[in-house]
Amino acid sequence: MALRRRGRPRNPVSKHEKALMARILDGTATVGVVGLGYVGLPLALEFAKKGITTLGVDVDQRKIRSLSSGKNYIQDLNNDEIRDVVKRGTLSATTDFARLAECDVVYICVPTPFTDNKDPDISHILAATKELAAVLRPGHLVILKSTTFPGTTDSYVKPVLDATKLVCGKDYFLAFSPERIDPGNQKWNTSNTPVVVGGVTGACTDLAIAINRRIIAEVVPVSSPRVAEMEKLLENIFRSVNIALVNELAQLCDRIGVNIWEVVDAASTKPFGFMPFYPGPGIGGHCILIDPYYLSWMAREKDFVTNFVTLAAEVNESMPFYVRSMIEREVARQPITIKDAKVLMLGMAFKRDVDDLRHSPALKVAELLFDDGFQHVSYFDPYIPSVQVSGRELTSRKHLTAKYLERQDVVVITTDHSSFDIDFIVEHSKVVIDTRNATRDIAARSNIVLLGDGQ
Ligand SMILES: NC(=O)c1ccc[n+]([C@@H]2O[C@H](COP(=O)([O-])OP(=O)(O)OC[C@H]3O[C@@H](n4cnc5c(N)ncnc54)[C@H](O)[C@@H]3O)[C@@H](O)[C@H]2O)c1
Repeated sequence: MALRRRGRPRNPVSKHEKALMARILDGTATVGVVGLGYVGLPLALEFAKKGITTLGVDVDQRKIRSLSSGKNYIQDLNNDEIRDVVKRGTLSATTDFARLAECDVVYICVPTPFTDNKDPDISHILAATKELAAVLRPGHLVILKSTTFPGTTDSYVKPVLDATKLVCGKDYFLAFSPERIDPGNQKWNTSNTPVVVGGVTGACTDLAIAINRRIIAEVVPVSSPRVAEMEKLLENIFRSVNIALVNELAQLCDRIGVNIWEVVDAASTKPFGFMPFYPGPGIGGHCILIDPYYLSWMAREKDFVTNFVTLAAEVNESMPFYVRSMIEREVARQPITIKDAKVLMLGMAFKRDVDDLRHSPALKVAELLFDDGFQHVSYFDPYIPSVQVSGRELTSRKHLTAKYLERQDVVVITTDHSSFDIDFIVEHSKVVIDTRNATRDIAARSNIVLLGDGQ
C-alpha cells in the first residue's frame, strides 16, 4: 500500500523542474552515480540496462579501470550485463567529477563508516557533495542514498549546494532515497524492492519519484528527507534489536539446556505478530552494525539516550567474545594448551554466500583468539582469499581435506556458506562448534557444540 502524501505547500512549477521532468519521462535524462560499490554499481547497471546514459564516478582508480574495460567486480551482478552496457556505451566510468556536469540526475552512494569512537563519519558524503557543487547547474537533481542520520540532507548537503547561489526546489533539486539492497539475496534486488523518497520540496520529491520509477516498480514518497533518513535507520535498528534479543536468549538457553533454534522455529509457526530472527557469532557488514550508532550519536546531541539501540549493540558486539569462550572451553576439555591448539574457522565473510568482509564477526573472533595467545588459527572461505588479523596475513585453505580437518583440535562454523559440505566436516572433525545451526540436519551429534543449545 503506497503511503498517502502528507500535505506540503507546492511551489509553482519552475522551468527547470518542467524541463527535467520531461527529460526523465521521455528517457533522455542522463544519470550519474557517485560511489560504485555494493550500492552504486547495481543502481548504475539498472539505469544502463534501461538504455539510460549512465556515468559512474569513483575515487578508486582500480574500479574505474575495471568497469571501463567491461569487467564486473560485484558478486551479485551479471558479468555479461556489465560488459554489454559498457560495450553499448550506456554505462561509462570515470574518476573525473567535472563530468557530472553532463548528468541530469546525480545519485550519491558513498560509504558512511564510523570513527574509532563509533561517531558518524560523513566525510565521504561531504567530499562528493563539494565535487558536485563545483559543477552544479540549473536542472540538476541530486539524490543522496548513503545511510545517515536524520538532518544530513537538509543540514549538511544542502548548505554546500546552496553556496552555489542556485535555489533548491527551483533551480536544482535535492532528495534522500535510502538504499535497501541486500547482497546475496536472490529474490529481492534493486528493481523489485520498493524505495522510499523524501525531497526537500514537493518538486524535489516528484522528480526523485519519477527517476526512480524508471528502474523501480514501487516508489513510496514521504514528507521530507528527514523522514526518509530516519525510516532507513528504523529498518536497520529493528534488525539489530531483534537479533540482539535472540542472541541474549541463546546465551540463556545455553545455561538452561534449551535449544534456541527449536524455540524460534516453534514460535515461527504463529501466523501473525512474530518474525523469526536467529542467533549467531555477532553482526557485521556496512549497515546493521554501523547505522544504529548514527542515530545514538545524533540523539546524544539532543540529550536523549537511545537505550534500545545501545543495549542491542552491546549484546551483538559481545557475541564474538562469547564464541571465543566456547572455543576455549572445548580446548580446555582436551589435553592441549591454547598455544598449541589448532583452530580452523569455517567462513570469514560477514554472512552466508557473500564476499564482504566488512566488520565480519568471524574476523573479530580470530582477532580475539590471537589476543588470548592462540598461535594456530587457520580458516577456509571460498569467497575470502586472505585476511589481515592482528597484524598477520592469513590465507584461506584452498580445499577442505579429511586429513586437515582431522588434525584440528576445534573446528568452528562462523559463516554458513551453502557450499560447505557439513556432513563431511562433522564426519572428519574432533569437535565442531556451530554458531549458525548449519548442522541442523546431522543426526549423530556427539562432536557438535551448537550455540544456544546448552547440551
Ligand atoms: N552494502 C549494502 O548492503 C548497503 C545497503 C543499504 C545501504 N547501504 C549504504 O550505502 C552506502 C554505500 O555503501 P556500499 O556498501 O555501496 O559501500 P562500498 O564501500 O561498497 O562503495 C562505496 C564506493 O564509494 C567510493 N567512494 C568513497 N568516497 C568517495 C568519494 N568522495 N567520491 C566518489 N566515490 C567515493 C568508494 O571507492 C567505493 O567504491 C553506505 O552509506 C551504506 O551504509 C549499503
